[in-house]
Amino acid sequence: MAATTSTSLFDASLISPEVASSFPDGYQVRPLERGDYAKGFFECLQVLTSTGDISSQQFDERFDWMSTQGKGTYFFLVIEAEGRIVGTGALIVERKFIHNLGTVGHIEEISIQKDQQGKKLGLKMIHAIDSVAANTGCYKTILNCGERNEGFYLKCGYRKQALEMAKYF
Ligand code: ACO
Repeated sequence: MAATTSTSLFDASLISPEVASSFPDGYQVRPLERGDYAKGFFECLQVLTSTGDISSQQFDERFDWMSTQGKGTYFFLVIEAEGRIVGTGALIVERKFIHNLGTVGHIEEISIQKDQQGKKLGLKMIHAIDSVAANTGCYKTILNCGERNEGFYLKCGYRKQALEMAKYF
């Protein structure tokens, strides 16, 4: 069983070995590491949306917060190929009072580098996140997405439910 290292956000053994081994040769799915800033983590996230101009120090501070105060709640995954981050995804684990103190996983920040799209990496990233959710005791995972991505999430086994509402501050 792989151990948590100080450079790794969470224990890699939470990712299903079957899902991890389903990635193509040369592609590795793993927990976010401290060194991923230099491997293009933000460039990959910018395929999804704007990130702001975040420094290496700011990244380290957020990483350290997630691995201490946010431990057991924040599970960021990346896909690495040839020393570059080509995919990102996050699971945020919410512990509730309802449903017998149920635990729900929220899927966020799914992004695949443009030149890597269409290779089933997004689908496998979702399967990897689903496995972390199951291994951390979630009874379901939920997410918000734009209509343009509905077909992708249907392929990943999700179905449309409810309606999203938002208020910005
Ligand atoms: N609409 C409909 N079907 C799609 C779409 C789409 N937008 N994208 C992929 N698919 C289909 C594929 O054709 C494939 O179908 P198949 O199995 O029949 O061949 C299946 O879904 C799996 O596709 P992948 O190859 O795994 O998709 P990819 O690796 O390109 O990842 C993703 C899809 C994540 C949407 C990628 O295009 C991306 O990063 N887009 C920009 C960022 C983004 O919008 N992220 C999602 C935000 S929502 C959130 O984070 C919760």
